Amino acid sequence: MKKSFLFALSWCCLLSILSAQVRTEFLLEKGWKFARTDNPQSYSPGFNDSKWQSVVVPHDWAIYGPFSSKNDMQKVAITQDGQKEAMEHAGRTGGLPFVGVGWYRINFKVPEFTKGKKAAILFDGAMSNPEVFLNGKKVGHWAYGYNSFYLDITPYLNEAGNNLLAVRLENKEESSRWYPGAGLYRNVHVIITDDAHIPVWGTQLTTPKITSDFAKINLKTKVVRPADTKAENFRLVTDIKDVDNRIVATNETNLSKYDGDLFEQNIIVPQPKLWDIETPYLYKAVSKLYEGSTLKDEYTTTFGIRSIEIIPDKGFFLNGKKIKFRGVCMHHDLGPLGAATNEAALRHQVSMLKEMGSNAIRTSHNMPSPELIKVCDEMGMMVMAESFDEWKAPKCKNGYNLLFDEWAEKDLVNLVHHYRNNPSVVMWSIGNEVPQQGVAGGAKMARFLQDICHREDPTRPVTQGMNKPKADIGNNFAAIMDIAGINYHTGIYPEAYEKLPQQLILGCETASTVSSRGVYKFPVEPKIMQKYDDHQSSSYDVEYCDWSNLPEDDYIQHDDRSYCIGEFVWTGFDYLGEPTPYYEDWPNHSSLFGIIDLASLPKDRYYLYRSHWNPTKETLHILPHWNWKGREGEVTPVFVYTNYPSAELFINGKSQGKRTKDLSVTIDNSNDDASMKELKRQKRYRLMWMDTKYEPGTVKVVAYDKDGKAVAEKEIRTAGAPHHIELTADRTLLTADGKDLSYITVKVVDKDGNLCPDVNQLVKFKVSGAGIYRAGANGDPISMDLFHLPQMTLFNGMLTAIVQTKDKAGNITLEASAKGLKTGVITLQSK
Ligand code: GAL
Repeated sequence: MKKSFLFALSWCCLLSILSAQVRTEFLLEKGWKFARTDNPQSYSPGFNDSKWQSVVVPHDWAIYGPFSSKNDMQKVAITQDGQKEAMEHAGRTGGLPFVGVGWYRINFKVPEFTKGKKAAILFDGAMSNPEVFLNGKKVGHWAYGYNSFYLDITPYLNEAGNNLLAVRLENKEESSRWYPGAGLYRNVHVIITDDAHIPVWGTQLTTPKITSDFAKINLKTKVVRPADTKAENFRLVTDIKDVDNRIVATNETNLSKYDGDLFEQNIIVPQPKLWDIETPYLYKAVSKLYEGSTLKDEYTTTFGIRSIEIIPDKGFFLNGKKIKFRGVCMHHDLGPLGAATNEAALRHQVSMLKEMGSNAIRTSHNMPSPELIKVCDEMGMMVMAESFDEWKAPKCKNGYNLLFDEWAEKDLVNLVHHYRNNPSVVMWSIGNEVPQQGVAGGAKMARFLQDICHREDPTRPVTQGMNKPKADIGNNFAAIMDIAGINYHTGIYPEAYEKLPQQLILGCETASTVSSRGVYKFPVEPKIMQKYDDHQSSSYDVEYCDWSNLPEDDYIQHDDRSYCIGEFVWTGFDYLGEPTPYYEDWPNHSSLFGIIDLASLPKDRYYLYRSHWNPTKETLHILPHWNWKGREGEVTPVFVYTNYPSAELFINGKSQGKRTKDLSVTIDNSNDDASMKELKRQKRYRLMWMDTKYEPGTVKVVAYDKDGKAVAEKEIRTAGAPHHIELTADRTLLTADGKDLSYITVKVVDKDGNLCPDVNQLVKFKVSGAGIYRAGANGDPISMDLFHLPQMTLFNGMLTAIVQTKDKAGNITLEASAKGLKTGVITLQSK
């Protein structure tokens, strides 16, 4: 028994137990048993689970496959995509086996739980319909798989001896429009406190006044205390600590019987350091709760000092500075890791997005994991925290519509309570393209939800993604929102601006351009809902959907219309499910929308966004690759994505002419079919040589600054025979915590190191030392390769292998081998 307790705790949790006197918090990570059977006795302590699989939580039971078109095959018409008749959507939710029931069981001991103590269990998210049993008794349940919730387990927890926690989860078919993941895919926390304590999410911290001399912190802290205690005996001492753990301000407040068990403290922080995108400075409020002279609890609230303001006609301001959202929408899956949350994976994603110049993430279309918010707080990434994809009217037969009446308020309250102290969260979103738009009563429902956000957090504006702008403008639906968030439909912006009261427009969801990394289609021309025999889309970045557009159609709006406050591109990364436009074309089962592919490799589009969103950093990117055997003499356009205003192109040393970004292009003079066809808007942002002909050799670009001075150059060349495997790690120094990850780019190159873009063979992996092979992905939306197996087929010469540390320090070696190629080896260090 003792062993299983130790197993259930990570080292850092053990440390926190040893140091904390009054509060014990730990994660239930290792030691879980799991089964996909639905034996009703699974909740019972006497049940024999020895044949069940041993798993570590966070765990996504469905990501291990196998893929099948029969997994959640949805025979439906996606009306929001304009479909009139039902068709067989095979990969809509990723083609993975998430539907059905799963049970988890774990044994653990809590010696700190002695008579009179209180205990809670907190789930960061459980997919879905979790029913929680402790020691053979039902403790409670939740419904929505994305939300965090907690339950009081005081009456069920054993003071001495063993505890058996069992959780039943069930995912219905046709409950989602994308891959939701399955099981205990986020962390499970056990929290032991004294009888008098600060409950889960028990603080609310705001920064009502900020100057360069001081910031006024307002901290409200709930206390839960036994009925036979007196309010007047309670006292809260809060220290504000800076990043170096130095106390910069302190406040001591007594509770009175008039306070309703809510402490209110106003604390002045001198010379505050602001939380900002570039300098995400974080403070901590460490609050100690005393009854008389007895310490009863200690609770830490991490926060940032920053102001946000929405000024009609002027825009969105962070710390008084006008900022346009350069945002991306993100589903929660982590590609090959599935929905199982992992801080290192999120950090990896956010650093790639920041490098691109992105400053915000919309957690489409549901509550984020706490790890994402922590990473965004720490790295300076703003967040629009979203709640729902459906209200009362269905988009999916078994979607949130079934839960709305009973759960919407509870779900929204938990979201806001969980994240209202986090500086990265700058906006709430109450929904996405809900069918209530344009329907009688829709505006009332929007108002109901927005009011809940305002009641629980008066400091942040509320928006939602609306895609029926005519109706939304016409029936008050958009008018009542703090921020009018419009999905696509950029053509309606002027009318929306004129008719709506907010005087600002947010591109809540934009672009939905589609492309596959390393795939180029000829002739190069804009195409809508285009499908090809190879089930891919062109990486010339000229293809989009019926309802959507190319990146520049958004750039131009937010550059030229002062009332546009920025955009959230659909999507930052590719995700599992929604393989539009290949709706019924199995084996497509992941998206083509991402700026970055499912293997977290940047597509060409990454450099287009980077050139525009991160203008002070050099971007000079040439596409396509230059290995076009069989296209000799044929027109093969070359595009250059750069932050420089102009450049000259050379093929095998011959100039192909100079191109300069055409700043004479405006929204109005490019707003017709002919302009769209000739890529007029693109000429303002990309440099394009449409008539270049392929001949093997080199493509070189020389970039000029605004004064015509040559300032940078880049060259790509036709690769020779595949020679060896090149491995590059995003990080080579890792933490030996059993969770840290290194993303290793695997590339097949010729003897001179040029990428061989048409190699699509199998690579096998071996990891030795202090790590394990965690997963891999190639970014191919039709790949049937299982993510967790240590082998993967290359997609256009590349893939990504992910290595995870063990909880013992040492070197980790990854070896990658493939037939006929020199093996690649890389060594990482785990400390
Ligand atoms: C939007 C929707 C997203 C996604 C996207 C694809 O309408 O809000 O969830 O489906 O279309 O273009």
